[in-house]
Amino acid sequence: MSSPIRRIAICTGGGDAPGLNAVIRAVVISASNLGWESYGIREGYNGILFPERYPEGGVFKLTRDRVRGIAHLGGTILGTTNKGNPLHFPIKLPDGTVRDIDRTDEILEFFAKRELDALVSIGGDGSLTIAHALAQKGLRVVGVPKTIDNDLDKTNTTFGFDTAVAFATECLDRLHSTAESHQRVIVVEMMGRYAGWITLHAGLSGGAHAILLPEIPYNLEKVAAKIRQRDSLGRQYSLVAVAEGAKALNGQRALLEASGIGQAERLGGAGEQVAEALQALTGKDARVVVLGHLLRGGSPTAFDRLAALRFGAAAVRALNEGHSGIMVALAFPNVNYVPLAEVAGRMKGVPLDSDTIQTGRDLGISFGD
Ligand code: F6P
Repeated sequence: MSSPIRRIAICTGGGDAPGLNAVIRAVVISASNLGWESYGIREGYNGILFPERYPEGGVFKLTRDRVRGIAHLGGTILGTTNKGNPLHFPIKLPDGTVRDIDRTDEILEFFAKRELDALVSIGGDGSLTIAHALAQKGLRVVGVPKTIDNDLDKTNTTFGFDTAVAFATECLDRLHSTAESHQRVIVVEMMGRYAGWITLHAGLSGGAHAILLPEIPYNLEKVAAKIRQRDSLGRQYSLVAVAEGAKALNGQRALLEASGIGQAERLGGAGEQVAEALQALTGKDARVVVLGHLLRGGSPTAFDRLAALRFGAAAVRALNEGHSGIMVALAFPNVNYVPLAEVAGRMKGVPLDSDTIQTGRDLGISFGD
């Protein structure tokens, strides 16, 4: 039988997403109601791996007071990072070459030394893969699915996604009138990495006329044909929603920066490529709007806030029930637990037979195929 829990730690890793603070609040209050203390690790695991960076402490106590009034705030009071994955930590050798080492043992040692009995790891695929590795090494761990990209498997949705979709939809709503006034093509690039969830959902909700997703390699001739058809019907403007990970048939993804050790590649530039090509193909004036990090900011929607609070409370319940190595997940209308092993390293793209894609087709939206 495992020892009783008295102190838990919380970490937030990867790109921030609206709702992180609501999870932290729910964990701290639920834990406190069980008589447990909560501690926050700063910036992923940096608070443990680089204590010297934090004169006020890389790991600090989260009291009920510290989490008062934060559920509606974007970002994370713990800070986060998407660099320096402890499973593949880059180190420079004397000969100047860089290789990666596994630093997860240092995390386990820290937990033992500070008598921290469990970890709530709030993150996306990368963070949950680290959480899975820590659980396999014997740490008591529960994961919470976060990402605006919604690309995690085994949960209906992640928190952060709804807020990103709501904002992107509002942006499209605003772009209709200016595109129409100038009879332009406006291309709107949206984050989402290799999954098209944000672009598909916002594209449909915001009335885009073409939607380009990583899951459906595009042929811009088809999009140009759609724009010409609209022109011929007197609708002389078009909005094109483009996922940052979308690419042409037989083409390459647009990249800003290649991947490095413990660090994912940075996508960007897909919108610019599409706009240039559509301008050349249609002869129409084209403009690009890159929503980028705006999608990660702001207050979480009520849906995301509620999901985050439910996830935080469920994570503490799961630990109290003796679970470890699991992720709390939305299985409408409930929250359930799924093994981290079934989540780590698996990306959930938009299924091609999704009824949402079919809805777009039924409404005459071009997917560039
Ligand atoms: O995973 C969240 C996300 O916002 C992706 O949509 C995007 O590709 C990436 O993070 C951007 O990361 P960064 O903040 O390092 O530019």
